[in-house]
Amino acid sequence: MSAFCRRDGVLHAESVALSELAADFGTPCWVYSRQALERALDEFQQELRGLDALVCYAVKANSNLAVLDLLARRGAGFDIVSGGELKRVLAAGADPGRIVFSGVGKTAAEMELALTTGILCFNVESAAELERLNDVAAKLGTRAPISLRVNPDVDAGTHPYISTGLKENKFGVAYDEARALYRQAAALGNVEITGIDCHIGSQLLDPAPFAEALDKLLLLVDQLATDGIVLHHIDLGGGLGIRYRDDDASTTVAAYLQPLLARLAGRPLRILLEPGRRLVGNAGVLLTRVEYLKPGEVKNFAIVDAAMNDLARPALYGSWHEIVPVVTRPGATRRWEIVGPVCESGDFLGHDRALALAGGDLLAILSAGAYGMVMSSNYNTRPRAAEVLVDGAQAHLVRRRETVDELLALEQRLPC
Ligand code: LLP
Repeated sequence: MSAFCRRDGVLHAESVALSELAADFGTPCWVYSRQALERALDEFQQELRGLDALVCYAVKANSNLAVLDLLARRGAGFDIVSGGELKRVLAAGADPGRIVFSGVGKTAAEMELALTTGILCFNVESAAELERLNDVAAKLGTRAPISLRVNPDVDAGTHPYISTGLKENKFGVAYDEARALYRQAAALGNVEITGIDCHIGSQLLDPAPFAEALDKLLLLVDQLATDGIVLHHIDLGGGLGIRYRDDDASTTVAAYLQPLLARLAGRPLRILLEPGRRLVGNAGVLLTRVEYLKPGEVKNFAIVDAAMNDLARPALYGSWHEIVPVVTRPGATRRWEIVGPVCESGDFLGHDRALALAGGDLLAILSAGAYGMVMSSNYNTRPRAAEVLVDGAQAHLVRRRETVDELLALEQRLPC
């Protein structure tokens, strides 16, 4: 995480000390680095240079407008999964012709919005969705560009909650049924088949399952060609993992893409990718302050002002995020449970961390740029934290902290 470096013992985001950001914007607070975001996108774009390829950032990983704006400016397209995300990317200046729409439950209203916007492609996930999309497009007197999201039934070997490419998952069209569904689609008047799509899971550190999925998709592409169905693009989804801890295995973008590009060489197929975590995960940290230290007989608790409502990943998936002091302090370390103020035993951010701590210390929870703020909630009536984007020596508040009054404003008491 070179955009987050220690200088004179103080952790910085680019040129700004995180202690300064805590003083200016309060805690808890999400901090993103422009440089890290741009570098992550560049890594993909460099590997794809000269090819007919488009990186469609998976908006769900981090949907802050400033993040989307930065990526759009550098030529990224977007993978969205809701009408809300569509409005967001348009508000961030996205080109509609670079938007793909994924997700198993698209509503008719969302389809209509996307059709009138003129997006690049709908990644259709079922026969029922295909039928609905055809009806909505007919009503609008248009044709919907589609790919089928095919479930290649490969084991991505990742956490069961974020594995999506197995038969038992709710996602995509079963591999064995895809060819027949393509034929059905070809007979519909208001859809236009443009591609094929898959997404096998998230936080994959081994490139092999991606290649296995691609081989299965290419077999289908060739079978479809014999049926007279010629595809123009192949979308390989997202899923490339990041390093959460030093001893994690890690894969470079090149090592992930090279076997895929080798298989696609010479084929007249545009390549689409939908990376999320890899573009933003290591570009963000969650800044938090120690409220209380509560050493105990069995465990020592450090109660911080961030909680599971802010960063849900540890509670939800047992995910490990590195937690480091913003200012290193001398003295002996102790093993701490890093926990939040929420009234649940599952409200932890890290177990058994060796740290030298005092009340009031600032901590940074690393690799929190993906699936952090987007998954936060207002549980325990906790306003969602501020988001700050650092660009060199400048810090921009890109989402201010919510207030409790704002939360209450959506509700009302009974009339009597
Ligand atoms: N495309 C589709 C259709 C997806 O469902 C996803 C993620 C992506 C692309 C992006 O995947 P990525 O490159 O970020 O791995 N909340 C979980 C991750 C859920 C991923 C859901 N789908 C977490 O915190 O680990």
